[in-house]
Amino acid sequence: MKPGSTRLATSGPVGVFDSGVGGLTVLRELKKAMPNRDFIYFGDTARVPYGSKPAELVRRFAWEISGFLLRQGAEALVVACNTASSLALDDLRRLGVPVFGVIEPVVAAAKPYSRVGVIGTRATIASGAYQRQLEASGKKVWARATPLFVPIVEEGLWGDRVAELVARHYLEDAPADLEALILGCTHYPYLQPLLSRLLPGLQIIDSASPTARAVASALPAGEGAGKVVHYVSGDPDAYRDLAGRLGVSAGEVRKVELGAL
Ligand code: DGL
Repeated sequence: MKPGSTRLATSGPVGVFDSGVGGLTVLRELKKAMPNRDFIYFGDTARVPYGSKPAELVRRFAWEISGFLLRQGAEALVVACNTASSLALDDLRRLGVPVFGVIEPVVAAAKPYSRVGVIGTRATIASGAYQRQLEASGKKVWARATPLFVPIVEEGLWGDRVAELVARHYLEDAPADLEALILGCTHYPYLQPLLSRLLPGLQIIDSASPTARAVASALPAGEGAGKVVHYVSGDPDAYRDLAGRLGVSAGEVRKVELGAL
């Protein structure tokens, strides 16, 4: 079911997923935009990164996780992952609940700019999802796969020298006349201070706020207590520690065996 412009009648928990901690950037904004909603977050930390895996595999992971979230009571889904949004959204929209991806809201947020850069995982950039939509509205687009940023964030190294070396390498051929840079991966906002320093004056657009605004305008506010249950396929303690360093206190973290998906 594709979210339309009218409000969709669902007030139960919203399922949100990503390959790991990247989707927490989206969850954070969703919680601010919808404080009375309950959320169920799934981080597929045993199988991160998605961006270097074959498209078929990412589609299968997205399908399995969505089914799991629906079985836990989710009444709508937010695909808080650009890779899964660019590859699996059409499949997931057959599930019969509202399904929100990150790409359309981000493309809408880039509307005021005519020379736009987009960085993302190999799979997201190879899918051409951003390039097609941006070019269709007459923009000049520079696109670059920047896959090493994902393990840098998952390792908690976004403030380290290694992050700067990698960023300089990836950005060396960015055109000087870009007006805006889309962070086409939900892991990348953690690198925003570094990217803003390396590309001063550029408008940086990430997935979090545009997506949260799109979800909040399509779903009713909800009547929950703002509770979040986190599920991970990898180590819950490592996830809780990393989430804490990212500013998200993940109280309840439950481990899910991959076989149970
Ligand atoms: N955070 C995800 C994205 O937005 C996935 C990154 C990955 O697992 O490669 O694309």
